Amino acid sequence: MKNVGIIGINGFAGQYLKRELLENGYSVWGVDVVASDEDTIQADMLDAEAVDRILEQKKPDAVFNLAGLASPGASWDDPVKTMHINVDIAVNLMQAIRNHCPKARLILIGSANQYDMRNIPAGPIAEDAPQLAESPYDVSKSAQESLVRVLGKKYGLDIIMTRSFNHIGPGQKTGFVVTDYCQRIVDLEKGLTDTIEVRSLDSWRDFADVRDTVHAYRLLLEKGRSGEIYNVGSGNAYYIFDIVSALINMSEKAKAVVDLPASQKENSQFPRVYSDNSKIFNDTGFVPKYPIEQTLKDVLEDYRRKGGLQVS
Ligand SMILES: NC(=O)c1ccc[n+]([C@@H]2O[C@H](COP(=O)([O-])OP(=O)(O)OC[C@H]3O[C@@H](n4cnc5c(N)ncnc54)[C@H](O)[C@@H]3O)[C@@H](O)[C@H]2O)c1
Repeated sequence: MKNVGIIGINGFAGQYLKRELLENGYSVWGVDVVASDEDTIQADMLDAEAVDRILEQKKPDAVFNLAGLASPGASWDDPVKTMHINVDIAVNLMQAIRNHCPKARLILIGSANQYDMRNIPAGPIAEDAPQLAESPYDVSKSAQESLVRVLGKKYGLDIIMTRSFNHIGPGQKTGFVVTDYCQRIVDLEKGLTDTIEVRSLDSWRDFADVRDTVHAYRLLLEKGRSGEIYNVGSGNAYYIFDIVSALINMSEKAKAVVDLPASQKENSQFPRVYSDNSKIFNDTGFVPKYPIEQTLKDVLEDYRRKGGLQVS
């Protein structure tokens, strides 16, 4: 049985990845700043000595690094912390792997935000598309990728990197478009507010279901080519107006109260871009399974279960 570590195991994607790996016969442990169970080590992975000790003790066959600051919006509040968390943990892991388990596969999560989303022509975005950072978060993910490429080559490590598109699903915190609207709808349904503030809805995004995302991560562990970078997305472009409109239509209360402005879809100032999944499909056979309607319904139900005015 393969011994796999998940760094950031208590996060949104980490919890799903844990389940995906356990269901497929892996022995799984994890690290997070707050421990949740006996398989989770409580540690700050910015502490290089702690990282070294953990890998010396665990000697994993593979490590996923999902620890990170995951919100581009929040990254403006603390660019220095964003750079530390999103770059230094990767470097600490590489050095510890080099010291204690040099054959281990390391899978690092980058972001589709690294691409020049506003200026890329409409259509699928392949891994060689132009890049342009627009937030400290984007810079941190690009920096992680550059540094990992250089150090990985120097140290001769087995590394795979992703450029993951937005993933959504039950359990995700607020601070992201789908969860923010789910929260507002639930607040409305519970009578905690009598209106929903609608922000600009003119934008295209590729949203994957987190359960598909972590399936892709497992396939990359098993079949990805060492040294390669892979897009992980749904392969579909969704117009934000349509996503918000679908959520509102799932709530009688929201339907009665919210008056969406006219859709700008036909004259959108943004290109209709989405993940080109050809590379990950060709190398691993990855095909997303969850339809967007199912995912949106599951997220809204999750927020209904949790109740109104949640603090993320
Ligand atoms: N969610 C998305 O849509 C999305 C899209 C593209 C890429 N990503 C990337 O995927 C990764 C996982 O995203 P997520 O949504 O699960 O994030 P998340 O914020 O839910 O989880 C991150 C986890 O890392 C832990 N962590 C943070 N700093 C740590 C440290 N110093 N030491 C140990 N643990 C630490 C946190 O406690 C948290 O549990 C991130 O790198 C994110 O940038 C996410």
